[in-house]
Amino acid sequence: MTTNTTTSDQRLRVLIPEDRLQARIQELGAQIRADFGDRPITCIGVLKGSFIFMADLVRAIGGDVRCEFLGVSSYQGGTKSTGVVKITKDLSGPIEDQDCIIIEDIIDTGLTMHYLLEMLSVRKPRSIHVCTLLDKPSNREVEMSADYVGFSIPDEFVIGYGLDLSELYRNLPHIAVYTP
Ligand code: IMP
Repeated sequence: MTTNTTTSDQRLRVLIPEDRLQARIQELGAQIRADFGDRPITCIGVLKGSFIFMADLVRAIGGDVRCEFLGVSSYQGGTKSTGVVKITKDLSGPIEDQDCIIIEDIIDTGLTMHYLLEMLSVRKPRSIHVCTLLDKPSNREVEMSADYVGFSIPDEFVIGYGLDLSELYRNLPHIAVYTP
């Protein structure tokens, strides 16, 4: 397996190589399945950033899993959160009485997740949890702690493995810090 600790683009520095990402996702999946037992789990991926993480995580969880997606736009192309959350795509059906996990790429200020939890809670899920691949706890503007966290990272702008800068870099197999 490759580790990708270098990159030819001078603006990028690998923070989490592919093999560490994949190993941690296997651990998260096993932990989630152990916590929920045989119950079906509705995984709600927050688009677009979580789509690669979600694809790997649902396979690591195994068992009965429903896949839903929410389209959310919070940056409008820059590298700072605007705090304005726009829903660009809603769930395809009701989640009432379902065990749900929101799958997010990264929690930064916490504003997006705070908004999504409020929005989805009123739909009466049986339970609702949060799983994020990355967490930047030093940058919170509202209190927010995820139930499942892949990696805690410093307050730097990261891209790759689903995360973008102006829609680019999502297809990198690792997480890298972007310095313009
Ligand atoms: P929050 O509302 O500030 O917690 O930000 C959540 C959203 O902002 C995430 O779903 C990402 O789409 C985006 N985001 C936050 N930090 C980064 C980053 O370092 N790189 C890329 N996107 C980020």
